[in-house]
Amino acid sequence: KRNERIDVDYIKGILQPTPTCAIWDEIWNFQAKPDDLLISTYPKAGTTWTQEIVDMIENDGNIEKCKRAPTHLRFPFIEWIVPSIPSGLAQANAMPSPRTLKTHLPIQLLPPSFLEKGCKIIYMARNAKDNLVSYYHFQKMNAALPDPGTWEEYFEDFLEGKVCWGSWHDHVKGWWDAKDKYPILYLFYEDMKKSPKCEIRKIMEFMGKNLDEDALDKIIYHTSFDIMKKNPMANYTSVPGEIMDHSVSPFMRKGSVGDWKSYFTVAQNERFDKDYKKKMMGTTLTFCSSV
Ligand code: PPS
Repeated sequence: KRNERIDVDYIKGILQPTPTCAIWDEIWNFQAKPDDLLISTYPKAGTTWTQEIVDMIENDGNIEKCKRAPTHLRFPFIEWIVPSIPSGLAQANAMPSPRTLKTHLPIQLLPPSFLEKGCKIIYMARNAKDNLVSYYHFQKMNAALPDPGTWEEYFEDFLEGKVCWGSWHDHVKGWWDAKDKYPILYLFYEDMKKSPKCEIRKIMEFMGKNLDEDALDKIIYHTSFDIMKKNPMANYTSVPGEIMDHSVSPFMRKGSVGDWKSYFTVAQNERFDKDYKKKMMGTTLTFCSSV
């Protein structure tokens, strides 16, 4: 039997699940440590993929060490609070350093200590259309988020930024603007798909690690979509079924670029592009044009 859907509320204009709102002061006052590494993303932009890559680098390509626990317990998700799993804050506070943490918060809601302490941050962005499609499917299978409604309704909510963690456009732009002021490595899902070796090298250098070619090849293989989909420590099947129901839509769904073309109508695509142009005007941030 599935739990009731979790309700949502606003934190400074950004929708969040109510359990997160209830402990917001505690989240905001979270004390990061200088050697924390933070993986930050808009939901469904490639968080789990980045986490697995970072863990493999951290553990010098040792696959067994990366299978020590499922993703949601290896990387405390600081604002996450769901029944039957220790909260992200509790996990983070209990974890010895160096810690790798996860957040989906837009930059203006990031607990200030991360930037004050100079923590390294890896941000991954995904093109808006695929991101929307992935998020829609995730909300269908995840009782810790509101029911997405119909595809048409969700499409409108996404454009209006009326989804948890707010507007995709504001999120990617906010973190983009911060990247030259703080130690932020800004990556793209589409680049990782196209040239994993090159992108993984960037992460390695950013983390101050220097692994050989063999280890790099092992990381590429272990973090490929097909292998991660089969890995119970990376595919979220260990989260209780009352929260995530993979029979509705698997967490590891398609892992591809351009899947939006199977969902957007011609009219939706035109509307999306027009709105996108307006919202992204003036930013130097650009996404892969072939998507
Ligand atoms: S979450 O819940 O926000 O942490 O989700 P997140 O991990 O950010 O996003 C899930 C989507 O990323 C895809 N994924 C991958 N794609 C390519 N390669 C690898 N290794 C990989 N691992 C996860 C996952 O399938 C989700 O995308 P969709 O488009 O829904 O398949």
